[in-house]
Amino acid sequence: MALLELKNMTKRFGGLTAVDSLNLKVEKNQIYGIIGPNGAGKTTAFNCITGIHPPEEGAVLWKGKEITGAPPHKVAAMGIVRTFQTIRLFSEMSVAENVMSGRHFQSSQRWWHGICHTPGSLRDEKENWLKVKEALAFFKIDDLAAEPVGSLAYGIQRKVEMARALVSEPELLILDEPAAGLNDSETMELVETIYSIRDQGVTILLIEHNMDLVMTLTDYITVINFGKPIAEGIPEAMQSDPMVIEAYLGSEDDDDE
Ligand SMILES: Nc1ncnc2c1ncn2[C@@H]1O[C@H](COP(=O)(O)OP(=O)(O)OP(=O)(O)O)[C@@H](O)[C@H]1O
Ligand SMILES: [Mg+2]
Repeated sequence: MALLELKNMTKRFGGLTAVDSLNLKVEKNQIYGIIGPNGAGKTTAFNCITGIHPPEEGAVLWKGKEITGAPPHKVAAMGIVRTFQTIRLFSEMSVAENVMSGRHFQSSQRWWHGICHTPGSLRDEKENWLKVKEALAFFKIDDLAAEPVGSLAYGIQRKVEMARALVSEPELLILDEPAAGLNDSETMELVETIYSIRDQGVTILLIEHNMDLVMTLTDYITVINFGKPIAEGIPEAMQSDPMVIEAYLGSEDDDDE
């Protein structure tokens, strides 16, 4: 059984069909890529999976069970966690506080236990800080823990966002253009990071315009254009597929976002 399956998933905005009968199956422990030109419907597909824009038609299945239209907090609690194409962090808050905000799905305690400092809430708090410390060390940003996020370089903010997603201990990590805005050495570091996350047992679904990165990193790719899947296969096959070259790789020069 696939970890995540989309069956004929369709999302419309007025007269525009942004995602058009999308089918895909992400297997456990895969690194799965979605590629396609600007406006193809990639982010909208992620928004449908994560409950931001429920699809009008079709189904989202998580471990074989239908979760179509489940709200974002429920989807996250099930183990599906994402990052955004445009960084969404609390810029006034510190790196550690931002990463900690990813832990709130995990807490077994009610909020009033935290206020009253019950033994359970103290145990949770300790466990939360431990997870945050681990994540900061993993991304080699522990020395920046107290810095306000807004003052940090873009590449660091991307790491903070991934760290926040990881501390919620997802089974599926969804990354929307994780290399956008990164320089070459940061991109190479990202490749290692993603491999290492996968080696910890986390499945990865990502959108990316950087073709070198996609071809190196992914096990399997779906190509979409105008909301429709036009091809799927292993990276080597996609690189030489004439439909893909015409729809996307041929117009790579336009995609500099
Ligand atoms: N909230 C929305 N309301 C109306 N139209 C939307 C909305 N979100 C996306 N769209 C439209 O849906 C289409 C798909 O957009 P989407 O952002 O999913 O593309 P994308 O493949 O992620 O593109 P990019 O590579 O530029 O990020 C576009 O035509 C876009 O304008
Ligand atoms: Mg997008």
